[in-house]
Amino acid sequence: MARKKVLVTGGAGFIGGNFVQYMVNKYPDYDIYNLDLLTYAGDLTKHKEIEKKDNYHFVKADIADRDAISALFEKEKFDYVTHFAAESHVDRSITDPEIFVVTNVLGTQVLLDAAKAVGGVTKFVHVSTDEVYGELDFDPTTFFTENTPLQPNSPYSASKASSDMLVRAYHKTFGLPINITRCSNNYGPYQFPEKLIPLTISRVLNDQKIPVYGDGKNIRDWLHILDHCAAIDLVLHEGANGEVYNVGGHNERTNLEVVKTIISILGKSEDFIEFVTDRLGHDKRYAINPTKLEALGWKPTYSFESGIAQTIQWYLDNKGWWEEIISGEYQNYFEKHYAL
Ligand code: NAD
Ligand code: TYD
Repeated sequence: MARKKVLVTGGAGFIGGNFVQYMVNKYPDYDIYNLDLLTYAGDLTKHKEIEKKDNYHFVKADIADRDAISALFEKEKFDYVTHFAAESHVDRSITDPEIFVVTNVLGTQVLLDAAKAVGGVTKFVHVSTDEVYGELDFDPTTFFTENTPLQPNSPYSASKASSDMLVRAYHKTFGLPINITRCSNNYGPYQFPEKLIPLTISRVLNDQKIPVYGDGKNIRDWLHILDHCAAIDLVLHEGANGEVYNVGGHNERTNLEVVKTIISILGKSEDFIEFVTDRLGHDKRYAINPTKLEALGWKPTYSFESGIAQTIQWYLDNKGWWEEIISGEYQNYFEKHYAL
């Protein structure tokens, strides 16, 4: 049987990067193509353990570059596409929405066109987010299901919802085989330190203030990255054509609980917590009902307690990776955004 070719867009980022490593190691008979523009959020140093493997390939390209993407699809004739590449940070989308539309909406449409034109793609998995559903209130019995209407509140989630609609349309109109996954907040190794958990870990370790937006009572539903990777692998191979799958493990925590847990594990003082001006349009609560995915056979392997302990240990063991990031261009972003 011919080797399968899998395109992973955004494979130099946090989730795509973990997924590339997961796939390269799990499927030696698949060729994994990591396509990434290497924006501020992408780096290849994370792949030093797999970059020499025969089944790993890297292509530097912009998903919104129609000529480059068409040429790549023509040349490689991918069997599977898993699409992670995106601008992913809500705060940046509030300051500069346009790049979110270009990358997340136009970039997705360019990929869909290439898959449609070349043919042969047996599954296009679009990695989306629960943020497209908008926000829930604090009633703990309410959850996002796949039938919850899309009501995105930030430019980031609006751009993701737009891309979801295009993926759906290419399935309905042109018969492209697709799935859309909508996952809750991820955490784990190689997450860029602009996001809450790695931001907190890195700042606590450096004895710096931790900026908590508003009153810290907003709730997120946290999932360890490796449980997300397993979910996408399952949907890629077993997902029913055209279906949406929510991904989440019932790990709701307030932001303050998350920050205090990290401080406590690291044995530091809660005096480092600094309440700062709230994020504009800050969604109150996200919470996933994962029943549909569980029916496919998925269940998470990490509790929040085991996952956060593993993640903190990883950041302790890999200081070089994040210290390099926070000492570079990111420093300017941080000072401008927080003015702490
Ligand atoms: P990330 O910001 O860490 O990585 C994004 C990657 O995409 C980077 O490597 C970047 O270089 C690349 N990229 C950006 N623009 C590109 C372009 N024009 N062409 C090619 N590559 C480009 O993001 P992440 O947290 O790994 O998120 C990955 C995907 O998962 C996104 O689609 C995001 O919406 C979705 N998602 C994220 C979370 C989360 O908690 N982080 C939760 C649910 C869904
Ligand atoms: P984030 O990691 O940016 O993910 P998202 O906005 O996609 O959920 O933020 C997670 C939560 O943490 C969110 O409610 C905003 C909050 N937050 C802070 O309180 N302080 C911060 O510095 C950041 C980055 C986030």
